[in-house]
Amino acid sequence: MTRTTYYTAATLDGFLADEHDSLDWLFKQHIDEAGPMAYGPFIAGIGALVMGATTYAWIRAHHVDRGEAWPYPMPTWVLTHRDPAPVEGADIRFARGDVRPVHAAMVAAAGGKDLWVVGGGDLAADFAEAGLLDELCVQLAPVTLGAGRPLLPRPFDLRLTEVARNGDFACVRYDVGGPYRGD
Ligand SMILES: NC(=O)c1ccc[n+]([C@@H]2O[C@H](COP(=O)([O-])OP(=O)(O)OC[C@H]3O[C@@H](n4cnc5c(N)ncnc54)[C@H](OP(=O)(O)O)[C@@H]3O)[C@@H](O)[C@H]2O)c1
Repeated sequence: MTRTTYYTAATLDGFLADEHDSLDWLFKQHIDEAGPMAYGPFIAGIGALVMGATTYAWIRAHHVDRGEAWPYPMPTWVLTHRDPAPVEGADIRFARGDVRPVHAAMVAAAGGKDLWVVGGGDLAADFAEAGLLDELCVQLAPVTLGAGRPLLPRPFDLRLTEVARNGDFACVRYDVGGPYRGD
C-alpha cells in the first residue's frame, strides 16, 4: 500500500524557511546520515514527489542555477498557477488546483513505492484535508524564527508514532488523522 509522507525539517516554532525563504538556520545544524529518520533510507522508498512553486524555485536557484543536476531522479509534480521553466533532463510535471488527481497520477507513476510531499505547508494541508496524507515526519531544529513559511498552517489531529534524537534534531513522526475539531 502506497504511503504518502510529508517529510521535512522545521524550526521548533513550526517554520520551513524564514520570510525570505532562507534555510540558513537548517544548514548550520548537525545530522547523522546513518541516524534515525535520516534522508537516505527515506528517499530510497520514494517513487514520486510533489512540491509547491516556491520550493521548486528554491531548488532551481540553489542547485540547478549553480550548475548542479536536479536532485531527484523520480517523477516530480510542481503545483503552480504560473508557467515556470522546466529543468532539462528532469522528470517534472506541472499541475494546478485540486491535489486529488495529482495524488492519483503520483501513485500510478511511483511503481509501488511511497510518495513524498516536500512542501510547503499549504500544499501538505491540501493533501491532509483531502485525506491523502498518511504521515508527517519532521526533524525539529533547535532554533526559533518567530516568522516564516509555516510547516502546516491548518488544524489537524495527529497521532505520535515515533520520537528520536538525531544530532541536533528532535525527530518526530505522526500519523495524520482528520481535521482538528477541538473535542
Ligand atoms: N525545511 C525544509 O526542509 C523545507 C522543505 C520544503 C520547503 N522548504 C522551503 O519552505 C518554503 C515553502 O514555501 P511556501 O510556503 O511558499 O510553499 P510552496 O508550496 O513551496 O509554494 C507555494 C506556492 O505554490 C503554488 N501552489 C501551491 N499549491 C498549489 C495548487 N494546488 N495549485 C496551484 N499552485 C499551487 C502557489 O504559487 P503560484 O500561485 O505563484 O504558482 C503557492 O503560492 C520554500 O522556501 C522552500 O524552499 C523547506
